[in-house]
Amino acid sequence: MTEAIDLLKEEHQLVKRVLQVLRKKCWQVVKEGVVNYRDFEDILDFLKNYVDRQHHGKEEDILFDLMGRELGDEIGSGPVTGMLIEHDLGRQYVSGLENSLKQHEKGDEEAVLDIIANSISYTHLLHNHIEREDMILFELARRSLSDQAKEELNRRMSQAMKEKTASDSQEKYRQKVEKWEGALP
Ligand SMILES: [Fe+2]
Ligand SMILES: [Fe+2]
Repeated sequence: MTEAIDLLKEEHQLVKRVLQVLRKKCWQVVKEGVVNYRDFEDILDFLKNYVDRQHHGKEEDILFDLMGRELGDEIGSGPVTGMLIEHDLGRQYVSGLENSLKQHEKGDEEAVLDIIANSISYTHLLHNHIEREDMILFELARRSLSDQAKEELNRRMSQAMKEKTASDSQEKYRQKVEKWEGALP
């Protein structure tokens, strides 16, 4: 049990580092007045593939699924639904960021406001979301899931991590984050 939850918590640490990089990139835009599309696209790739597809994917398909099944009667759908809503809101900011970058590239200079608004809203949302998962939802899972459900959670999580694409991209993204941090002013 601890293994699956610890793995998700470890992924949160990497996500938080990228939130910091994204904030710095926005600050650079404000200070220098130049949008580096390549940098933002690299970060967008991380947000879409690592954060959403892999991390939120594992939470939704495995942990939330099990919690809903096992604890539904006890906790209702409240805590899990709250997390799902936040995942969706995050997706809206990511697509807002993607669209505003395109608009800006087409010559709409004012779209810089939307680039920054979507980026910073996303970082605030995700920081709070991660805190709520680490402190509340994951602890609820540790406390309340049956031993059998914990075993299933660990088994399904390690299966998901063994898929080649998942293990390759964990390493790939970790290296990318280190490179981005190293290049920050
Ligand atoms: Fe989440
Ligand atoms: Fe999470």
